[in-house]
Amino acid sequence: MDRDEVRRKLEFYRDLGIRELHVRAAPRTEAVPVTVPAVVEALAPAAVPQKVEVPAPPPMLSMTPDDDSLPGILEDIGDCTRCKLHRGRTNLVFGVGNPQAKLVFVGEGPGADEDAQGIPFVGRAGQLLTQMIEGTAAKEGIPVRRPDVYICNVVKCRPPENRTPEPDEMQTCGQFLFRQLMAIQPRAICALGSTAAKALLGTKDGVMKLRGRWHKWRDVPLMVTYHPSYLLRAYNVQAKREAWEDLKKVLHFVYD
Ligand code: URA
Repeated sequence: MDRDEVRRKLEFYRDLGIRELHVRAAPRTEAVPVTVPAVVEALAPAAVPQKVEVPAPPPMLSMTPDDDSLPGILEDIGDCTRCKLHRGRTNLVFGVGNPQAKLVFVGEGPGADEDAQGIPFVGRAGQLLTQMIEGTAAKEGIPVRRPDVYICNVVKCRPPENRTPEPDEMQTCGQFLFRQLMAIQPRAICALGSTAAKALLGTKDGVMKLRGRWHKWRDVPLMVTYHPSYLLRAYNVQAKREAWEDLKKVLHFVYD
């Protein structure tokens, strides 16, 4: 890959809002962090010919938009130690479902059950999410089951005591979420709760303000709704009703 191609790819990532990428010089070598805007600038063509030495382009193996794939992204993540969340993890929780799903659900981060099994949304909140997807689809006559969609989280390792992921953790792991979404190219994304909404929309607004209407992540329509953990709280009857409405909207949009 020549310099211009490398620059164009990096510009693509920069425009996605990715500030840092972890890249390998060769398969199974250690990934090193690359600051995207700085390298794009270093590789920009000079306005006038000059003799300044331009740093060598970073290695770009398996991180290009064209050849990125879920297995490639998982391989890049590897035995990740990029942020402090790795210290408490039993299993990294990458994502589950159809790699060509038309609909992707994005949660916050693994809980205890997910950490134990390495699969997102398998605990109580996960069972509710499965019921919501399959129950709403069945009621609406849409033949969709949980394995037809893709489910993942903003951060892939369990935060201690299930605390909210911190900004540096979301930033570090967010690049992998973005790459997952680009590899899948869904028709729509459903952000579950405010952490997912914040990671994907860059907003500080809460779910109550954002839910029920379409937003966009890049060009992909995105619906925000309540996180299933929130819905598990007994007093949230109204929120449950609203979440079902949101999901109905998403399922009809994607599958009609
Ligand atoms: N909550 C999340 O946000 N993600 C999971 O995978 C499980 C619970």
